[in-house]
Amino acid sequence: MQLIIDHVSQTFPAGRGRALSVLEDVSLTLREQEFTALVGPSGCGKSTLLNLCAGLLSPTAGTIKFAGGDLTAEPRVSIVFQETGLMPWRNVYDNIAFGLEAGGILPRKEWDGRICHYIQLVGLAGFENAYPHQLSGGMRQRVGIARALAVNPDLLLMDEPFSALDAQTRLIMQEELVSLWEKTKLTTLYVTHNIQEAVMLADRVVLLSRRPGKVKDILSIDIPRADREKPEYSEEIAGFIRRIWEHISRDAREAMTEVQEP
Ligand SMILES: Nc1ncnc2c1ncn2[C@@H]1O[C@H](COP(=O)(O)OP(=O)(O)O)[C@@H](O)[C@H]1O
Ligand SMILES: [Mg+2]
Repeated sequence: MQLIIDHVSQTFPAGRGRALSVLEDVSLTLREQEFTALVGPSGCGKSTLLNLCAGLLSPTAGTIKFAGGDLTAEPRVSIVFQETGLMPWRNVYDNIAFGLEAGGILPRKEWDGRICHYIQLVGLAGFENAYPHQLSGGMRQRVGIARALAVNPDLLLMDEPFSALDAQTRLIMQEELVSLWEKTKLTTLYVTHNIQEAVMLADRVVLLSRRPGKVKDILSIDIPRADREKPEYSEEIAGFIRRIWEHISRDAREAMTEVQEP
């Protein structure tokens, strides 16, 4: 299934009758079986766009709609945040089960098979009975990912899921996400401020300008994901990173020198 974001703008009330324009005329399609990364300077509206895609917000202008699949059932959207929001009183198994409790997703007798499958897939076999406080940050994030995948979503949204992890764990989790994603090929929107990460993970990188966020550039990273670490592609990868950084650093510099409104 794909998600079509069509001429979407978002403003928020900013007090004293003023409005803060956060996104302006954003058009973008999250394609079927495509991993789209969204990058842009801090505060440019990345999380706002993700929340709009999740249906947690409705846009001030424009439309967001699913297309290209079975539209008779309500499409399912899963979100993974930086903080996984695991329930501390539930063990790994029961945290993953939580997503299925919404009802109507899966007959009860199939839960166990589904949960065990995703526990295996994210490498947490043996930790079913562990509680979140007994796990490392990377493991907690794996539980969050398993919980998101267990509902078989039509759309997977991830908002800086590895930002709270240390640099090494982050790299390991990126590699794991690549191999996991290759197995599921879910339509994915991945928000990050980390350019390197976007280029390593995504099929397409969408670059937003500083606030109000507009689509500034879309790069297709046409190198097989598994080859992106290989030396023969390092020049090409560096080129993508440079191109994105040029945009972002210019925006960030302009923002720093701009007169702040009181
Ligand atoms: N619900 C809201 N009400 C008012 N302002 C908001 C709201 N959500 C986000 N903002 C503002 O919108 C801007 C963009 O926020 P956000 O989407 O979180 O940016 P990013 O994720 O790119 O860092 C920020 O200036 C933020 O303060
Ligand atoms: Mg954000």
